[in-house]
Formats: sequence, C-alpha cells, structure tokens
Amino acid sequence: MQFKVMFVCLGNICRSPLAKALFEKHEYENGLQNRFYIDSAGTNRNHAGEGADRRTLLNARKNGLVFYHEAKQFKLSHFETFDLIVVMDRSNENNVKSLSADMELHKKVHLMRKWDIHGTNEDVPDPWYGGPEGFEEVFQILNRSTAALLRDLAFG
Ligand code: 4NP
Repeated sequence: MQFKVMFVCLGNICRSPLAKALFEKHEYENGLQNRFYIDSAGTNRNHAGEGADRRTLLNARKNGLVFYHEAKQFKLSHFETFDLIVVMDRSNENNVKSLSADMELHKKVHLMRKWDIHGTNEDVPDPWYGGPEGFEEVFQILNRSTAALLRDLAFG
C-alpha cells in the first residue's frame, strides 16, 4: 500500500502543484518512484480545472523542471484518503481543519516548512501578488522542504 501525501495551498495553481512535482522529482532521483502516492489541491475552487500559474511554470522550467497540472479543490473525503496533508501556510491549515471537527483527522495536517532547515514552521509565502523573485523563493523553499520530507518518510 502506497503512503499517500496531499499538498495543499489556496488556489492549487502556484505552491502545492510545485510541491507535488518537486517531491516526485526527488522520489525519482532517489530511485523511489511510485513509492508514494502524491496529489495536490486548493482550499478554494476559483481556479479548479486550470493548469498551473504560468509564472510558476516559467520559473520551474528555468530550474529544469517541467510538469503537467490540473487544479482542484480540497474536499472532506481527502482527509480520509490521505495519510499526510501538508499545507503551505497557516491560513490553508485553518481552512482544511475547518472541514472537520475530528481531532484524529486534524493530526494528519502539517505545515510544509516543518521540514525546512532554513525556516522551521514559517509559512511558504504566497507568491501571487509579487514579482518573479517570489516564485524563485518559493521554488527554493519547496525544493529543500520536499527533499527533507521524502528523506523523513522514506528513511525515517
Ligand atoms: P497558490 O497561490 O495558493 O499557491 O496556488 C495563489 C493562487 C491564486 C490566488 C492566490 C494565491 N488568487 O488570489 O487567485
């Protein structure tokens, strides 16, 4: 049985699709492809059905990463399906937890930067209203955080 990880942000077009793509890249590079089932979702549905934000895609391509994505909204049923729910910021955390009062389910929810050696427990900044440097910053944060998460899950 695959361990299932869901990455969550607000719109599911910038941060969480990139987190999924980077986690899968680390899996592949460590010979662990398909060891985990990975998905991503947004707490709102404003961008459902859309591809990833073009600024996210552009920045990822600059860093040698190309990926396909179709946005969707996080649903209560995902709480049951997934073993670990990794949220980008505290607002995402509140939105996800507000879907259920079950404290056992809440225990599945963790902040992405819990695994970031350069910013333990801070938020992954929302790059939406900023310039290209914000997308690069998010890429670097997610690159090292997802690598550390994979090491944690695969090798404990
Ligand atoms: P994401 O970024 O949550 O990382 O996908 C955003 C995407 C869309 C919006 C805000 C943040 N928006 O306001 O539409």
